[in-house]
Amino acid sequence: MIKVGVSGAAGRMGQAVCEAVEAAGDSELAGRADPALGVALGEILGDADVVVDFTTPETALENAKACLAAGVHAVVGTTGFDLDALRAAAEAASANCFVAPNFAIGAVLMMEVSQAIAAHMPECEIIELHHDRKLDAPSGTAKRTAELIRGAGGNVHEPIHSVRLPGLVAHQEVIFGGEGQTLSLRHDSIDRRSFMPGVLLAVRRVGGLPDRFTVGLEKLL
Ligand SMILES: NC(=O)c1ccc[n+]([C@@H]2O[C@H](COP(=O)([O-])OP(=O)(O)OC[C@H]3O[C@@H](n4cnc5c(N)ncnc54)[C@H](O)[C@@H]3O)[C@@H](O)[C@H]2O)c1
Repeated sequence: MIKVGVSGAAGRMGQAVCEAVEAAGDSELAGRADPALGVALGEILGDADVVVDFTTPETALENAKACLAAGVHAVVGTTGFDLDALRAAAEAASANCFVAPNFAIGAVLMMEVSQAIAAHMPECEIIELHHDRKLDAPSGTAKRTAELIRGAGGNVHEPIHSVRLPGLVAHQEVIFGGEGQTLSLRHDSIDRRSFMPGVLLAVRRVGGLPDRFTVGLEKLL
């Protein structure tokens, strides 16, 4: 059994992760850390093999560093903070860190397909749509999609468009434009359960990854 601590356990994603870990046959919940529950991350590190962090851009880096310093593998879903600083900390650590801006398989496939399309239709725009309590904009998924498309030779027009409205969960559209034609890709996470198979996959795989720092669910597929 993999012992999993959840950081941000009282949040929207953290609650879903706790349920998924408890429901999975090969993992058990080692602790729930969240200031809203009166439990600090340091209190649960001693019981955990892996910590999953869905917190805030202000605290995710320090949380992940604390996990790595304690020899606990970190799976980070929080977006909107400096990944280069985390990479540097992870490469000097004795535990692994896995980060994914999006744990939904459909969103990862959208990023993969976007790169193939960009080779033939390079001009494109990204529109991302999220619930109105999301703290960062543009989303980590949109920034990662843009980075991958540019790496494949595409021209992502600025700015990335961010829509924030109640009723939304996490959605993204990539529109490619060519001579007399457009091609649109759209992914919709309509429920936070969409992220859980990816989170559990990362929990199972993080300890055995060849590198100390890995970004992107596609690396595990
Ligand atoms: N990678 C993905 O697939 C994915 C999917 C959805 C959301 N997200 C990201 O996950 C993050 C959380 O989203 P959410 O909607 O669950 O937010 P939320 O506001 O519902 O939950 C965040 C929780 O973190 C807690 N928290 C704050 N400081 C903390 C600390 N120092 N230690 C532990 N917990 C702390 C808060 O009390 C809160 O309960 C955001 O950055 C969001 O963009 C990523």
